[in-house]
Amino acid sequence: AAGRAAAQDLAGRHVVVSAGGTHEALDPVRFLGNASSGLMGTAIAREAALRGARVTLVAAAMTAEPPSGVEVEQVVSTADLAAVMQRLAPQADAVVMAAAPADFTPAEVSTTKIKKDGDGGMTLHLVQTTDVLAAISRSRRPEQVIVGFAAETAPDRDQLVQLGQAKLARKGCDLLVLNDVSAGKVFGRATTQITLIDPAGIVDEVTGTKSQAAASIVDALAARLAGMSG
Ligand code: CTP
Ligand code: CA
Repeated sequence: AAGRAAAQDLAGRHVVVSAGGTHEALDPVRFLGNASSGLMGTAIAREAALRGARVTLVAAAMTAEPPSGVEVEQVVSTADLAAVMQRLAPQADAVVMAAAPADFTPAEVSTTKIKKDGDGGMTLHLVQTTDVLAAISRSRRPEQVIVGFAAETAPDRDQLVQLGQAKLARKGCDLLVLNDVSAGKVFGRATTQITLIDPAGIVDEVTGTKSQAAASIVDALAARLAGMSG
């Protein structure tokens, strides 16, 4: 990747990358969240910017620092993320959904702090959020490149790829980055193991740093952009 770092193959392109995990408010002091660190999305944003793209990082809660030279839009909930992505996506050349949006959100947000009542437990009523990636894919322009992620727990690589192909088709994206998240292999770590697929099969596999994985993902994205516009 270091040898390619100066290649400006994304000059003149606008790449929108989402990263981090959304927070769904329960009451003024509590939320439902997830363990996404934002490191993978941040690495992709950095790589795309190094290769000449204008990059907008749509950042949900993350422990990673946003890279310099990219525009940052902060979001909290999946609904916020959906609104910002749907505003940015139509103008973008490529969209990378590395964020981990909450799939469910409380049906109601309490405006006051929820109090204990005796010794009883409590039941949360959750409803599904918007599938941002599927919505972006549905309203895409044909020349755009749309990249999704899939965090799966699969017993082996074949089954991981099978799950991935089904998700790729369901989401309608061009590339899917498959992550095996069994037993804390990915979240918050500098290293990762990814399998990159498109509708035809495996495009690349990387075991290494998240910046090595990002270089592979941006290679595939840049190749598709170049192929589509000559
Ligand atoms: N995604 C999204 N909006 C959601 C949920 C997920 O845009 N509300 C995106 C993620 O950013 C990722 C891709 O969809 O790029 C796949 O996310 P994943 O959680 O693996 O898939 P889901 O469709 O949510 O299915 P499930 O979690 O049930 O496997
Ligand atoms: Ca999900």
